[in-house]
Amino acid sequence: MAKNESYYSGEKYNLLAKKQGYRSRAAFKLVQIDKEENILKKNLNIIDLGCAPGGWSQVVSERLKGTGSIVGIDILNMLRLKGVEFIQCDLRNFDVSQLKTTIDVVISDIAPNISGVNLVDDANMIDLLEIELSIVDKTLVKGGNFLAKCFQGESLEYLTLNLKKRFKILKRKKPLASRNISKEVYVLGLNKI
Ligand SMILES: C[S@@+](CC[C@H](N)C(=O)[O-])C[C@H]1O[C@@H](n2cnc3c(N)ncnc32)[C@H](O)[C@@H]1O
Repeated sequence: MAKNESYYSGEKYNLLAKKQGYRSRAAFKLVQIDKEENILKKNLNIIDLGCAPGGWSQVVSERLKGTGSIVGIDILNMLRLKGVEFIQCDLRNFDVSQLKTTIDVVISDIAPNISGVNLVDDANMIDLLEIELSIVDKTLVKGGNFLAKCFQGESLEYLTLNLKKRFKILKRKKPLASRNISKEVYVLGLNKI
């Protein structure tokens, strides 16, 4: 099979992740978004939804430099990461009372298993977004920020509509490390009302 531009771009970030000690190439998506938006700062309490294998949590940890706190949640196990409290559970069963503090930033790279059937994938993504939004409502401080992954199409519309009700500023992000052929896109809600 011919290898296209997207393959080489993905491969480039895989190699870069290995070289820089990141557990996933997804780490670069957060690095690139944060470079533009500066949402990860010292002393913040941050939760990372769908954190395994841990690339995003590593980036957060670098930015916090031992201050604030990071809680990572995933249905899969994650190898221990210094400075990150990991909770293994299905987000659908996550009890926010387990958190020891209010939260300044929620980041989510969570995605359902892709079936390839748009209708099913959109519905599953929207189900997860609904849970993420309920976590945001219960834990995120006024003025806090929320970064979430969704897919072009229905789930993007759903997320945009719901973030408009909760945040002063909305930004759509497609970092270079996210393959062009991928339907994934990120939406950032800044300054919770
Ligand atoms: C793209 S990966 C995240 C990669 C991560 N940001 C990194 O940099 O290493 C998406 C994650 O979402 C998790 N996930 C999917 N559905 C979930 C659910 N219902 N509850 C918790 N985690 C879930 C998957 O297990 C997977 O680890």
